[in-house]
Amino acid sequence: MTKRPTVIDLFAGCGGMTSGFVRAGFEPVLAVEWDLAAAATYAANFGESHTVWGDIASVNPDRLPDADVVIGGPPCQGFSNLGSKDVNDPRNTLWRQYLRVVDHVRPKAFVVENVDRFSSSAEFQMLLAAADHGPLKGYELSWAVLLAADFGVAQRRPRSILIGSRVGHRIPLPAPTHARAPDAGVQPWETVRSRIAGLPETPDTTQLPHSTATFFGRTLPGVFKGLDIHVGRQPRELSLRRYDSVPPGGGRFDLPDELLPNCWRNKPTGTTDVMGRMRWDAPSLTIRTEFFKPEKGQYLHPQWEAEATAGRVNRPITHLEAARLQDFPEDFLWCGTKIQIAKQIGNAVPVGLAQAIAAQLAQHIAD
Ligand SMILES: C[S@@+](CC[C@H](N)C(=O)[O-])C[C@H]1O[C@@H](n2cnc3c(N)ncnc32)[C@H](O)[C@@H]1O
Repeated sequence: MTKRPTVIDLFAGCGGMTSGFVRAGFEPVLAVEWDLAAAATYAANFGESHTVWGDIASVNPDRLPDADVVIGGPPCQGFSNLGSKDVNDPRNTLWRQYLRVVDHVRPKAFVVENVDRFSSSAEFQMLLAAADHGPLKGYELSWAVLLAADFGVAQRRPRSILIGSRVGHRIPLPAPTHARAPDAGVQPWETVRSRIAGLPETPDTTQLPHSTATFFGRTLPGVFKGLDIHVGRQPRELSLRRYDSVPPGGGRFDLPDELLPNCWRNKPTGTTDVMGRMRWDAPSLTIRTEFFKPEKGQYLHPQWEAEATAGRVNRPITHLEAARLQDFPEDFLWCGTKIQIAKQIGNAVPVGLAQAIAAQLAQHIAD
């Protein structure tokens, strides 16, 4: 039997990225995450024994296992200006931690994922400098902004992906397998319908089941799966009237004047996605950590017809629908409160996107 390639996930969250790597044949050997609920979700799915619940800064280098690949997305501090390029800037601490691990493990390749504006951040400049004359010397870098929808995920979520390689050549980013206007060899984008059609339009409950689990010696809500996280909300009458006025693809600009909150009335342009309704036959927009609040993005359920007012589904997507749009498998296990689980879902790298990156790496590190 050939040995599976191994992966270390730093800033692992609930393990969206690891999930894609596992689908592509990798074996996770270490994950670090300091949020208890996210670390517990990761542990429930991939094993507690290799999961470190703690600050990445506290991980002892002598306890770092060998690995073929290191992955992770240290949070960026800001993008509006490039800020300090000083590697000693305290804001760069998390990046130094990431570099410290790569420098110690010397994997064949590493992956940094971040928001789409990453390449205009001070942190990005720091990475380039580290590869030129710092701890990443010897690694060849390639990067691009990839759209999850181009890799079979029913979501238009752009992510910056940077790959470092020391296998003797740059590893190119994976080529899209899906497109809005497909041609030979490329399939059409997946749609919201393909991921959430058929789920109960009216969730049975607004609460997670009463159940607790123990990870890292701590007890927390869990372990939940599938319809357990198909939880509804109890919107006010005014909210329901607002939701009802928004057609698929529409948003706050569809609200009649009498339903407009002052904050939007006084802001005639910008934030176009808020109070948005999804379309059945297109990918969703980015699923963020507060997808359960329609005032934060395009999160209303797509079922709405101009004539059939009785059949409209006037609610935001549920946790299960958000998890499906992030491409989590149906048997994925979740730990934490509703808010904690929403954060894990919204923070994750869509599994299908991570899988495409992992498959590309697997091929190049095996050569
Ligand atoms: C964007 S999320 C990662 C999502 C993950 N890649 C996935 O696909 O599910 C970043 C994570 O880094 C964690 N984090 C931030 N600072 C950390 C630190 N100093 N040590 C460990 N984890 C940290 C956060 O709690 C958060 O879960």
